[in-house]
Parts: sequence; structure tokens; C-alpha cells
Amino acid sequence: NTRVLTGITTSGTPHLGNYAGAIRPAVQASAQPGVDAFFFMADYHALIKCDDPARVARSRLEIAATWLAVGLDHERVTFYRQSDIPEIPELTWLLNCVTAKGLMNRAHAYKASVDQNTEKGLEPDDGVTMGLFSYPVLMAADIVMFNANKVPVGRDQIQHLEMARDIAQRFNHLYGRDYFTLPEVVIEEDVATLPGLDGRKMSKSYNNTIPLFEGGASALRAAVMRIVTDSRAPGEPKDAENSHLYTIYRAFATHEQAAALRKQLEEGMGWGEAKQALYDHLENLLAPMREKYFDLMANPGRIEDILQAGAAKARKLATPFMQELRQAVGLRNLQ
Ligand code: TYM
Repeated sequence: NTRVLTGITTSGTPHLGNYAGAIRPAVQASAQPGVDAFFFMADYHALIKCDDPARVARSRLEIAATWLAVGLDHERVTFYRQSDIPEIPELTWLLNCVTAKGLMNRAHAYKASVDQNTEKGLEPDDGVTMGLFSYPVLMAADIVMFNANKVPVGRDQIQHLEMARDIAQRFNHLYGRDYFTLPEVVIEEDVATLPGLDGRKMSKSYNNTIPLFEGGASALRAAVMRIVTDSRAPGEPKDAENSHLYTIYRAFATHEQAAALRKQLEEGMGWGEAKQALYDHLENLLAPMREKYFDLMANPGRIEDILQAGAAKARKLATPFMQELRQAVGLRNLQ
């Protein structure tokens, strides 16, 4: 059986990049026969970058409503909050004990902080918490806890997946048995990294996102109109391949639709007109899901019930597996 698993950090509002890179492929995969899926809100991960409790809670609700609004079948999928599964931080500790510090030194997110500090003339580890440093270990625990073998994510998570494999392999080797399946990354090649308004990776931390549902049609329109384009005037041929407006369109269109817009751009369609076309296209696609999203947001009790049922389902697997792992390393069985 295929086990698909993926999570979203609850530190912001879901954007088109999260949707195209992870949520859409994950929900599609979960509908295939023979697939067991595990999707979750990574709220322990959120604490690494966000010390605002209200924001974490709000983001968690938005992300849960997003998954449900885009068609996740919560009866079929195990859908939960990371922080409802106490076995995850417990497993994180076991994994911390077998993870080489040198491996974490190489993590991109950590190295980026060190580079920034060095540039500013600060101590390399200035402002770096243990949470940030060991972030990939918590992520490895998320994955191996449920022995997931396929993890749909955007390109920015590839290194974390490689680290999860390393850590799982090290544990298996030390304790002499294949306790953990080695997870494989699944990348949607057509999307991989969706660009944001300024052409860099669409990301909460760059403040260049297009919100998926929040703010409604007007926020979507305002964001699309802010996409940065080159200065070629209407009538001049545009270089579609190198415009992120086109890249964003392509991530949400059929091959035929994308080819048609490309042709129009090459024949001189103005950027203003192209933005309107992108907005119309996205609005068409998102409006029906957005309606479900706002219905769910208005009914947090319903979401809470779904998440608690999901936590119970997840713990049915996590609790006995954690007992087995406690025994494997020489700890007392809790039962
Ligand atoms: P996060 O919350 O930053 O992003 C959630 C997912 O969205 C993808 N993504 C993108 N894909 C394409 N283009 C973009 N511009 C873009 N921006 C974000 C991310 O690659 C990710 O798949 N550490 C993870 C959450 C996590 C997780 C896990 C994922 C925690 N535990 C276990 C998989 C398995 C993160 O912070 O993603």
C-alpha cells in the first residue's frame, strides 16, 4: 500500500504556492485506490517562527478549512493536528539522539540564518533557536511515525526529505531492524516552485504571496494586479517563458489553455490584459472552493470535531508503534 503524508506549517494564510505545490497533488493522490493518506497541520513547526498564539490558532483554522474546502475526504484521509499526537515529540527525541549535529549544520534554513548573520557582522548563531536548528528532526518524526513512503511537497522541502531518510536509516541500522520505511519525495514537476508577485519563490517570508481564499475575490484581484512584469508595452511581443505571470497561469491551467495565453502574449497582448485573464481564470477555479471555505470558517466546531476524530485515528497507529520503539531503544513500556 502507498502511504502519502504531508503537512503545512500553521504560521500564515494558505497561498497559491501551498495549494499547487502540496495541497492539490496531495488531495489528488489521496483519492487514488490503494492509497492511505495522512495530512496534518504542523503547529509544532509553527512555534519555531511564530510566538504569536493567536496567529498560530488562526492559521491552523484557515489551513484546516482549506484542506476540507478543496476536497479532502476526512472519512478516508487521516487528517489531524500535529500537536494532538504526543507520540510525535516523543519520537522526535529518539531521533534527536541518533541524528548527527553535522547533518543539521547543513540544513538550508539554518545556513541561511547563519549567512544573514555573518553578512550583518553578527555572531553566526545569533537568534537561532534549537527549534530552528533541529527542525528537520521534527519533520522526520512526522513522516516516519506513520511510515509514509510518498511525501508530496514543493521543491524547498527536498533537503528535509533527504535528511528524514538519513535519520530513519541511521535508526534502523543502530537498532538492527527496519522499524522505519524510507520516505520518498514527490514533486509536481510542472509547479515545483511557484513564483510569487516579485518572481522569487512565493513565500510568507517574502511577503509576495497570492492568498488562496482569504480576502475573497477582491484580495485575489489586488494581488494579481501587483504581479511584477517587464516594461514591454501593449503590442510588443512578450517573453512568456520568462514571465512569472505566465508561470503562475500555467500552474493552474490545462496545456491548451496555457498554450493559448502564451501565443497571445507572444503576439503582443498587454500585461494589463494578461493580468485580467489570469484573475478571471483563477476566480473561476477558486470561487466554488472559496464558498465552502467560508462556510467552514463560520463553523469552527465542525472543524474541531473532524480534527479530534482524525487525532484518534492517527493515535491508533502512533501509540502502539511508539511502544514498539520505546522497547527497541530500551525504555520501559508505558502500558
Ligand atoms: P510550508 O508550510 O512552508 O509549506 C507547505 C507546503 O507548500 C509548499 N510550498 C510551495 N510549493 C511550490 N511553490 C511555492 N512557492 C511553495 N511555497 C510552499 C512547501 O514545499 C510545502 O510542501 N516543513 C514543512 C511542513 C511540514 C511537512 C512535514 C511537510 C512539517 N512536517 C512532513 C511534509 C512532511 C513546511 O514548513 O512547509
